[in-house]
Amino acid sequence: MIKNELCTVISQKEIANKIYELTLKGELVHEMNVPGQFVHLKVSNGFDPLLRRPISIANINKDQNQFTMIYRSEGYGTRLLSEKKAGETVDVLGPLGNGFPVEEVGTDETALLVGGGIGVPPLYELSQRLVERGVKVIHVLGFQSENVVFYYDAFSKLGETYVATVDGTFGSKGFVTNVIEDQGIEFDVLYSCGPTPMLKALENTFSHKKVFLSLEERMGCGIGACFACVCHTGDDPTGHSYKKVCSDGPVFRAGEVVL
Ligand code: FES
Repeated sequence: MIKNELCTVISQKEIANKIYELTLKGELVHEMNVPGQFVHLKVSNGFDPLLRRPISIANINKDQNQFTMIYRSEGYGTRLLSEKKAGETVDVLGPLGNGFPVEEVGTDETALLVGGGIGVPPLYELSQRLVERGVKVIHVLGFQSENVVFYYDAFSKLGETYVATVDGTFGSKGFVTNVIEDQGIEFDVLYSCGPTPMLKALENTFSHKKVFLSLEERMGCGIGACFACVCHTGDDPTGHSYKKVCSDGPVFRAGEVVL
């Protein structure tokens, strides 16, 4: 169930250049049952800025009533959010959207998790869930450069982890698709979150496999009311039928929507 709650900041850390890890405490963590969902955060207590910011959930800790998000501070709203200190409150609406279907991979199978930049965080909760179920996980994470790499050690504890950076300053130089090919990675199910060109490349390369993609779409309301996030569906040649990333997604089966 979607809830709206004033959550308390437990910690806020800059873990890479302009990349922040924010942990909040609140009862709505008990509604978070699927990895890959997101929350909508109101970044100021006044009317400015008016819109909420959609941020994916990176870690769910129900025992301590806490959940963690990782986001990039890149505009006025997220900069305001990054200034929140422990003890302050944040207005949270969530959890929103449909996340990654963990049951699509068998317990004796291998899942490949591919993340790009700020699409990496939701894969962390997903990976933990899969490992709990006995699934073998392999991570391939792509970043621009070494100074924005985060959670490499955390992912490495869960399974084999490869990093690609565009400039070659960490891991191998190039894109996630180069790593998958060069390492000859074999898998049964692919889960991915990141920029659209990366998702498109994965969809094209692995069209014969089970692939689930989480879209990073520009959002407004987050609850299916404003149509800011619509995408066309893949099976409708007329182009009239559409899905909303916020409420039908953000996770879709490859081919379900046109990227
Ligand atoms: Fe408003 Fe999706 S963000 S309908």
